[in-house]
Amino acid sequence: VDKTLDLKAEIDKLRKEKNAVILGHYYQADEIQEIADFIGDSLALAQWAAKTDADIIVMCGVHFMGETAKILCPDKKVLIPDFNAGCSLADSCPADKFSQFVKEHPDHTVISYVNTSAAVKAVTDVVVTSTNAKQIVESFAKEQKIIFGPDKNLGNYINSITNRNMLLWDGACHVHEKFSVEKIIELKKQYPDADVLVHPECKGAVAKLADKVGSTAGLLKHAIASDKKNFIVATESGILYEMRKKCPEKNFIPAPPEDSTCACNECNFMRLNTLEKLYNTLKYEWPEVIVDNEIADKAIRPIKKMLEISA
Ligand code: 13P
Ligand code: SF4
Repeated sequence: VDKTLDLKAEIDKLRKEKNAVILGHYYQADEIQEIADFIGDSLALAQWAAKTDADIIVMCGVHFMGETAKILCPDKKVLIPDFNAGCSLADSCPADKFSQFVKEHPDHTVISYVNTSAAVKAVTDVVVTSTNAKQIVESFAKEQKIIFGPDKNLGNYINSITNRNMLLWDGACHVHEKFSVEKIIELKKQYPDADVLVHPECKGAVAKLADKVGSTAGLLKHAIASDKKNFIVATESGILYEMRKKCPEKNFIPAPPEDSTCACNECNFMRLNTLEKLYNTLKYEWPEVIVDNEIADKAIRPIKKMLEISA
């Protein structure tokens, strides 16, 4: 990229010329959140993709978010700034092994977290995000046997708050599993009045310290509504951008991971996206997300079911 280019102005010009919409997840770098047309959690991004009339969707997030948008909008061009922006949680659930697991439990309803490949969604009955997982699980009768995958931490948390015993896949997110109980307790000593905000992908021991467990959108909503001044935030630290923007008078402290001296916890996949790559993606319309037709035809059903239930 020509270093003299004003990237933000160029991106703006290209999105208008091409009738493109830039969607960004809360975990994106600040500069991407600043320029996106819309930022949100996984559910809101899917809802947005489903209703946009843009010709091109640029999904600034990770690969499964681009796939979900493409499945919902097969006639649109869906671009992602970096093809290597994967997800360790989605990778912890290979489609062939998960399909086998589903086959071994034919009397179970299959509920999958949105952080999965299209091929996993194709063998799923209904998709959920952290925002609507409780609501969707509770839409099934208590006696209904359920497989929930791939996140065991979210699964355990939903089991505990809905009093169920769903059969869990043994997957996890390498970012959320890294938060340290000890370091959060240390921070709590420094800020005794602080609310601890925890994403349900964190381990149960971390969730136990929480004043609020929720999706990124849920934690943001809690921070906005709360009359507390300090918040210790145990999720990817990109969310602090929107929290600080919405609540400039409040203090947001990122919870650190256990294995480093780093003060905050970033998802290396989410952070692969940069302004420069976003510019190139819009300019060259590449990399494009393509989903196999047969898989997409099956995967759209559980995604639509989720959107209907959480409308
Ligand atoms: P939400 O934004 O839906 O809470 O998801 C978090 C996440 O890890 C996305 O990868
Ligand atoms: Fe996947 Fe975890 Fe990164 Fe979210 S934070 S995209 S679950 S690896």
